[in-house]
Amino acid sequence: MKTRVTELLKIDYPIIMGGMAWAGTPKLAAAVSEAGGLGVIGSGAMNPDELREAINETRKLTEKPFGVNIMMASPYVEDLIKTVIDEKVGVVTFGAGNPSRFIPKLKEKGIVVFPVVASDSLARLVERAGADGVIAEGMESGGHVGEVTTFVLLNRVSRVVRIPVIGAGGIADGRSMAAAFVLGAEAVQMGTRFLASEESEVHPEYKRKILFSSIRDTVVTGLELGHPARVLRTPFARSIKEIEAKDPLEAEKILVGSLRRAVLNGDVQTGSFMAGQSAGLIEEIVPVKEIVRRIIEEFLSVFKSFCKEGEQ
Ligand SMILES: Cc1cc2nc3c(=O)[nH]c(=O)nc-3n(C[C@H](O)[C@H](O)[C@H](O)COP(=O)(O)O)c2cc1C
Repeated sequence: MKTRVTELLKIDYPIIMGGMAWAGTPKLAAAVSEAGGLGVIGSGAMNPDELREAINETRKLTEKPFGVNIMMASPYVEDLIKTVIDEKVGVVTFGAGNPSRFIPKLKEKGIVVFPVVASDSLARLVERAGADGVIAEGMESGGHVGEVTTFVLLNRVSRVVRIPVIGAGGIADGRSMAAAFVLGAEAVQMGTRFLASEESEVHPEYKRKILFSSIRDTVVTGLELGHPARVLRTPFARSIKEIEAKDPLEAEKILVGSLRRAVLNGDVQTGSFMAGQSAGLIEEIVPVKEIVRRIIEEFLSVFKSFCKEGEQ
């Protein structure tokens, strides 16, 4: 399968792993790369030394290309960028902010840069700053979210930029990948689907919760303070929503470290189980290779069935 994204990244399939703080470990990133997609280390909760270690660990597990996700909200953004450059990582995805001022430095070193955008305006801005592509992430997605659905965002972004567009948010199978391509995507990025894989190192309780979620089992916390995040609807998430309505700063305090508690300890009392609405589409925990194989098979069969209809 060739698109501008597979050519740029030198990967077999146009499937990118979403950068995921705490959950985007070397083991999971290497598994996605080995399966023919692009694995991505989530550096959101790492300092530069930890990132260097994670890069080395990933290199021990795969010789295929992989990337690093950098959260604009990280206190170490500049040093993480320096680490990525020193370690000669080929691809950087940026989350939660406008990374325009960092793009020229990475481009000078030949690094492929894909910022995540939740609006068409930001897509235009980062294109102007030299980004190689944009990841248009709709509000269905897990983790930090914008306000526009993938269906509308992707359609609009792919009309207003010339660089390749990667669709994200709510994509978990071949049909949703096909829909993203119809709307202009040349690759997809998935987070929740890879969380619920054999190689994912999140706590078994996290995977179990995704497996038993319906499409309505997520809520958005953090709205009051301007950093909304989609999480599974647990009693803790519900109580955060109540506290937020009365005292946003108190809610903010309680949320500190809550993703770590969910990922490492499966702590249902005080953990935030970030996941997208696509949790409701996931019915089985299987190895990453199998996830990718099934997605590509379904994607191709969807397009073949369209072509057959056209011939009749
Ligand atoms: C547990 C979790 C953590 C995430 N952390 C980050 C992050 O650190 N940086 C980032 O850019 N996006 C982050 N995201 C968003 C993903 O990279 C991805 O874009 C999103 O999951 C796509 O939507 P989906 O979950 O419907 O597949 C996170 C998502 C999840 C589920």
